[in-house]
Amino acid sequence: MAKLTEISWEAFESLPLEEKKPYLELPGGDGMPYHTLFAQQFDRANLERLCALANRIRFINKSKEGALYLKNVLSHKRAMLYFSQPSSRTFLSHLAACQILGMTTGSVRDAATSSEFKGESHEDSIRTFSSYFDMIIMRSPERGLAEKMAWELSNSERPIPILNAGSGKDQHPTQALLDIYTLVRSFENKGGLDGRTVTFCGDLMRGRTVRSLSYLLTNFKNVRQIFVAPQELQVPADVVMILAKKGIDFEVSDNLKEATRVSDAVYMTRIQDEWDSAKGDSSKIDTSNFKFGPEELALLGPDAIIMHPLPRRDEISTCCDHDPRAMYWRQMRNGMWIRAALIAATFGFESSIMNCGY
Ligand code: NCD
Repeated sequence: MAKLTEISWEAFESLPLEEKKPYLELPGGDGMPYHTLFAQQFDRANLERLCALANRIRFINKSKEGALYLKNVLSHKRAMLYFSQPSSRTFLSHLAACQILGMTTGSVRDAATSSEFKGESHEDSIRTFSSYFDMIIMRSPERGLAEKMAWELSNSERPIPILNAGSGKDQHPTQALLDIYTLVRSFENKGGLDGRTVTFCGDLMRGRTVRSLSYLLTNFKNVRQIFVAPQELQVPADVVMILAKKGIDFEVSDNLKEATRVSDAVYMTRIQDEWDSAKGDSSKIDTSNFKFGPEELALLGPDAIIMHPLPRRDEISTCCDHDPRAMYWRQMRNGMWIRAALIAATFGFESSIMNCGY
């Protein structure tokens, strides 16, 4: 296994993502990550193991005895939630996941309340957190920061794992895990995820959840991907290149109704206007044809599902909310279970939970 202590930051940074994977693995973890930084660390085998572990944790947690067993699994560990970008679900579901496993937690939710405001570097802040905690769950507007911090920590006297809870416009690997978990669960008694069609709609250019999930879907057989967006917000070239290189069947479109008719899952996203270079730029784009409402609902197949990483604005009409195919609420709760599974696996507790008596 490759080690982060044996490669310079410059050499590591310049590797293609797939070649970075071995440097980030959990020793003895059979392909499970130690640092979770991007979607390219996951293949079908570790995805299936994480989904099975999430199902197991979900089941064990149903009884009081089971819940108490889980609360003891990581009661000797502490997690730092370091979020310097807004978050509701990602923050709370990681927090709840830590609580299920009995971890105590600390948090910074606004860099203005930490010493970074006084000019401290990210490196020094992370070293500070690692003095008091055993894992850092971090969200940052900066692309690649979680990677740099993982390298720094692995090369420090207190190496602890980093979970990337969203990095800039780039990656959101744990969101993609919960999206895959939701898809796998939705189709588990209906022939599985292989051979399905997934449509992404909205701001595909700047949505990090899209990049991460599009990659994870390539681990499944014959999953066709359709990208529906206004031209200005279409899927970026790097995502298209990965799909083309892997021989994935995909289509770029501007017709949500057409795509809905042939899709097993429609993954809606909001316009990410916080990245506009001039305030109000996004409002000049005509997004009226990229909203899911009653007409799209009528075209959606009986077993198909509607997903959204949330928060939503008006891209899914609230009239869809009570339809059994609206999966976004369950998707949100799935985040807690898959994150608990990932955290437990990161600390090497996968097999003990899988094989416990509950
Ligand atoms: C997403 C994000 O932060 O990238 N939200 C989330 O984590 N559930 C999507 C978004 O903000 O639109």
